[in-house]
Amino acid sequence: MSAFFGGKRKNMRVLFGASKIRKRVRALARGIVRDCGGGGLLCVCVLGGASLFFADLAREFDGASTELDFIRVSSYGGGKTSGGAVELTAEPAIDPRGKRVLIVEDIVDTGRTLEFLRGYFLGAGAKSVACAALLDKPFARVNAERAEYTAFTLKDDAFAVGYGLDLDQRYRNLKAVYALEDGAK
Ligand code: IMP
Ligand code: MG
Repeated sequence: MSAFFGGKRKNMRVLFGASKIRKRVRALARGIVRDCGGGGLLCVCVLGGASLFFADLAREFDGASTELDFIRVSSYGGGKTSGGAVELTAEPAIDPRGKRVLIVEDIVDTGRTLEFLRGYFLGAGAKSVACAALLDKPFARVNAERAEYTAFTLKDDAFAVGYGLDLDQRYRNLKAVYALEDGAK
């Protein structure tokens, strides 16, 4: 790999390859459309981790009545730490009042972000709130949060990157999801 793209990737192991992700996302979308029973859906992408998953999932809703919106939240803590307090850093543009909201997340780890987002949308008058998460990482959960739709569950407490997921803003563009081994930067 050229230096332009940051040199060789070290200590990374593929967890979910591109074609596996494609198939799983398609199946997940089918299930969501089925559960909607023809009703409309407001899909909200949690930036930036869910960006690639969101784009692929939304494409699979072709023909279904779907609105797309974006939200950004931050939890304190850099690197591989999942912080405590969750803060809204960019508001969505579409009023969720009376709508069925599908939060599209990259990963549910401690569950604090999902808890915050459910509260946010229900507080703003959404009719119902569900979550589609690319990954479930059940090891560090601090509450009873669980996404209604999960593409993959991590079997060990790995730090995942790629397909939207980052470590300090790197690796988001990779087509597959990788586990970063300890010591990888
Ligand atoms: P929470 O701990 O469930 O609130 O998750 C907060 C956020 O931490 C997620 O939306 C991710 O952006 C990030 N995060 C947690 N685990 C990982 C990981 O393994 N890789 C990349 N980001 C992660
Ligand atoms: Mg995130």
